[in-house]
Amino acid sequence: MVSDQDLIALARRARDNAYVPYSNFPVGAAVETADGQIFTGCNIENASYGATNCAERTAIFKAVSEGARQVRRLAVACTEDEPCMPCGICRQVMAEFASPDFHCLCVPGPAPEPGQADRIRLLGLEELLPNRFSLEPDKR
Ligand code: THU
Repeated sequence: MVSDQDLIALARRARDNAYVPYSNFPVGAAVETADGQIFTGCNIENASYGATNCAERTAIFKAVSEGARQVRRLAVACTEDEPCMPCGICRQVMAEFASPDFHCLCVPGPAPEPGQADRIRLLGLEELLPNRFSLEPDKR
């Protein structure tokens, strides 16, 4: 199993592939599926802005399109000094594929100096999206 720090490093590296000619706001993400596979993603923008895909959804959709159905951890990093918080649409997508112990690791853009700890904001689904929509009432 990869460590939290390794998953975070993969998210920061995936950010290098961000296609962001409109916002110039690169984001990277890395997910671990319930069976231990890792998928990465970046944000991909479009001249028709609404067609933009966030980094988190790119990573989750890559996992799902390869057969995964449950995501256990998701690391996300933009380039700012504060931890990157996922948008509402991505939170709903996380809710769809979250394993029971799912959590999101939100980190600042810069990697910590050697010997320093990363500043990780650890968020479970309940914090990310309370009272969330579901077609099944018992999952709300
Ligand atoms: N973005 C993400 O990739 N993830 C987030 O959690 C928030 C926003 C992207 C979408 C767009 O390409 C850029 O950041 C600015 O909104």
